[in-house]
Amino acid sequence: MASSMRSLFSDHSRYVDCFRKFLDNSTEHQCMQEFMDKKLPGIIARIGDKKSEIKILSIGGGAGEIDLQILSKVQVQYPGVHINNEVVEPSAEQIAKYKELVAKTSNLENIKFAWHKETSSEYQNRMMEKKELQEWDFIHMIQMLYYVKDIPATLKFFHSLLATNAKILIIIVSGTSGWRKLWKKYGPRLPRDDLCLYVTSVDLTQMLDKLGIKYECYDLLSTMDISDCFIDGNENGDLLLDFLTETCNFNSTAPPDLKAEIMKDLQEPEFSIKKEGKVLFNNNLSFIVVEA
Ligand SMILES: C[S@@+](CC[C@H](N)C(=O)[O-])C[C@H]1O[C@@H](n2cnc3c(N)ncnc32)[C@H](O)[C@@H]1O
Repeated sequence: MASSMRSLFSDHSRYVDCFRKFLDNSTEHQCMQEFMDKKLPGIIARIGDKKSEIKILSIGGGAGEIDLQILSKVQVQYPGVHINNEVVEPSAEQIAKYKELVAKTSNLENIKFAWHKETSSEYQNRMMEKKELQEWDFIHMIQMLYYVKDIPATLKFFHSLLATNAKILIIIVSGTSGWRKLWKKYGPRLPRDDLCLYVTSVDLTQMLDKLGIKYECYDLLSTMDISDCFIDGNENGDLLLDFLTETCNFNSTAPPDLKAEIMKDLQEPEFSIKKEGKVLFNNNLSFIVVEA
């Protein structure tokens, strides 16, 4: 590995830019929306039964787009019931965006929001110190478990916080996605940061099995349009490539042989499909629903 390659996570602001670019160029949030429309109502059908308030905990809620979709489904299921939505999110930038979104969204009158600027393990430690283990009716961890050091301990802790009829929803890249293949093949040659783990639904379900925690797993198709990555000097492509390789400025810092291999592989059928002149990377997602 060339010493000049740096993990994308060492530059938080670039990470957020890359993530936004990824959202703009992928069906990530559309895929989640489809799940929220079709599957979520059944999943949350009983979480608030016989409760005067529904408590929702969002871990790594980001800018809140998906969180608000979840909240709207809970509102439909339990009209008028008060909702307490707490968000554990270490990025001040993301929290600011989340607050902006809440401020400009209508129909949130029965929802109380609170944001905690901390990581899931900081939240866990704070709760353990307080010895005040609050129970939750719905906990979600959406595209964030990559950044948690001890995933089994985290799953065990949050599972222990589930109230009667409560559920956890985890969204993570699928074992069938191009991500798994990319990480397996190139992970050892990319700058590794102990802040980011190459985990997919395959690893997650193995961990849950080991912990004896019951779950259901659904897979949905999603793609990321990476065509711009193959246009020299394209800024959009550079950001997407950084996101794919989790490397800051991959294009200008990667050794030429590694770059050539990755650029070639990204166009191969095991990673992407070619459609209407576009290169679409396999971004399939897994939705894992854990029961109390
Ligand atoms: C890929 S984004 C996903 C955001 C949002 N859930 C979505 O799907 O749009 C990952 C989020 O997890 C947050 N994050 C990173 N490490 C975390 C940790 N240890 N605990 C909680 N959140 C974390 C990041 O700041 C970021 O907002």
